[in-house]
Amino acid sequence: MKPAIEILADAEALAHEAATLILAQSLEVVSVKGTFSIGLSGGSTPKKLYELLANPNKEFFGQAPWDRTHYFWTDERHVAPDHPESNYRMANEAMLAHVPVPNDNVHRVLGELTSAQEAATQYQSQLTMFFGELPRLDLVLLGMGTDGHTASIFPGSEVLTEKRRLVSAPWVEKLNSYRITLTLPVLNNANAVVFLVSGEEKADILREVLKGPDARFPAQAIQPTHGTLRWLLDSAAGSRL
Ligand code: 6PG
Repeated sequence: MKPAIEILADAEALAHEAATLILAQSLEVVSVKGTFSIGLSGGSTPKKLYELLANPNKEFFGQAPWDRTHYFWTDERHVAPDHPESNYRMANEAMLAHVPVPNDNVHRVLGELTSAQEAATQYQSQLTMFFGELPRLDLVLLGMGTDGHTASIFPGSEVLTEKRRLVSAPWVEKLNSYRITLTLPVLNNANAVVFLVSGEEKADILREVLKGPDARFPAQAIQPTHGTLRWLLDSAAGSRL
């Protein structure tokens, strides 16, 4: 399926469009299923989005089904939840700490565990307890690095060929650290996947990923088996498309 690509004026407009999309989808899914599950991406791009969703003076806060939404992470660093690098900490400080989400609805990766593999194994059991065998998230948010990585699936990673595990703990040489990441079977099983990409520094890689030959970058391996795929870009990131 060809991905839908939307280019917004700037990072604020990108966050607003993403918030609008998330709100609409969460309300629709909750009206049918009673709950909504979302995989939060890390890094810096989604921070504006999370802050906008949690802003009590904006249109999203009062409408969002906070108490019926379940929060998961697409990936996490192998750090404690209060570490500056923690994706959980970023989402918690930007959004979760300011909204009425029950603690039981927050399903974070235990990045503080001694080994990243232990954290991955524990996260896999959290996922199967909640979803059953193959997790089907209602919505997955993803970012993309300038090397075309997404979640914590980096170029050349063995995670690219992982078909069995739901969560992997790859060593990432360039970062000199372990990561914990959802694998492609889970990411591609989502009902909807939305990439959020912002900034001039992503323009070249975006052109390669969206216009160049396939199967060169991990972001190109995100091909939902039945769900929708959408790219939300700001004009700086989309400037070379
Ligand atoms: C992470 C993310 C990662 C991120 C990209 C883009 O843990 O860092 O999951 O995949 O989305 O690296 O990061 P920025 O938004 O900071 O550019």
